[in-house]
Amino acid sequence: MLTRNKFSLIDLKSASVKDIRSVFSLAQKFKNQNDSLLFKGRTAALLFFEASTRTRMSFETAAVRLGLHPLILSGSQASSLEKGESLEDTVFNVAAMEPAVIVIRTGSQLNLKDLQLKIDIPILNAGWGPFGHPTQALLDIFTLESKLVSVQGLKLLIVGDIKHSRVAASHFELARILGYQVAICGPSSFLFSEATAQECGVQIFSDLQMALGWCDVVMCLRVQNERHSKGATDATEDFFLYQLTSDHVDKNSHIRAVMHPGPINHGVEMATEVVHHSKSVILDQVQSGVYVRQALLWMSQNYESLKEENR
Ligand code: CP
Repeated sequence: MLTRNKFSLIDLKSASVKDIRSVFSLAQKFKNQNDSLLFKGRTAALLFFEASTRTRMSFETAAVRLGLHPLILSGSQASSLEKGESLEDTVFNVAAMEPAVIVIRTGSQLNLKDLQLKIDIPILNAGWGPFGHPTQALLDIFTLESKLVSVQGLKLLIVGDIKHSRVAASHFELARILGYQVAICGPSSFLFSEATAQECGVQIFSDLQMALGWCDVVMCLRVQNERHSKGATDATEDFFLYQLTSDHVDKNSHIRAVMHPGPINHGVEMATEVVHHSKSVILDQVQSGVYVRQALLWMSQNYESLKEENR
């Protein structure tokens, strides 16, 4: 997460256990006392080139709580993107206004790895194409650790459209660092090959009952229609076969938590009654998002002290 001369978060591959633990310990601190106006007078640019509710508003809340003024660009409406300005030029122009940090949600058109080498300002990935959504994976695990203590050895089952999911991609990275196990389950056209699964260190289940029997925690993902090529959504019918119901959760009493990063398509990947099940931590995930993002914004402004601690 620490790059050559600044703190950016593009993926979790290069993060250490110590980095992750620093995020969680800061997030816990912010959860306990949420009135730290540390960066009064500075700005945080939130560039959301794709739709978002939770990530955008929790980064906004986190920035306000830290005293950073959020400058929000949401979609292309009323920005010069409408006139044909490129996404990359948009980022360069916003960077020229010297915000303290730039938070970006984008499709694959932008290369965040390249961008963070070209711009001196810290960049936080708020969801990048199918490549990763590291703050989501971090807040998911922060939520589980707040409820279940440690995730070491925990079995996390992710059900749904895995192939197109940046949330799943970030969990594959984080699981390697923190030592939890991940398995995936869903219609075959929404999974990837055995070889890729092995590369990612994950187990594949085609049978939902068997998968539920294996896991400690189950996370459902929606169909990522916006990332499908034309015709690829034909498998959506099969998706209903993998819908999580209360019956599934009640019959598998070893399941300790039910998660969903949102947005939920009720009655598709998850029955409405599961959303409100006593084991559902879905709204806890949203709440954790504010604290984890507060921690990451704080870290983005404290590169020198983090570098010193990591010596
Ligand atoms: N989980 C998540 O990224 O939700 P939003 O798309 O609403 O930000």
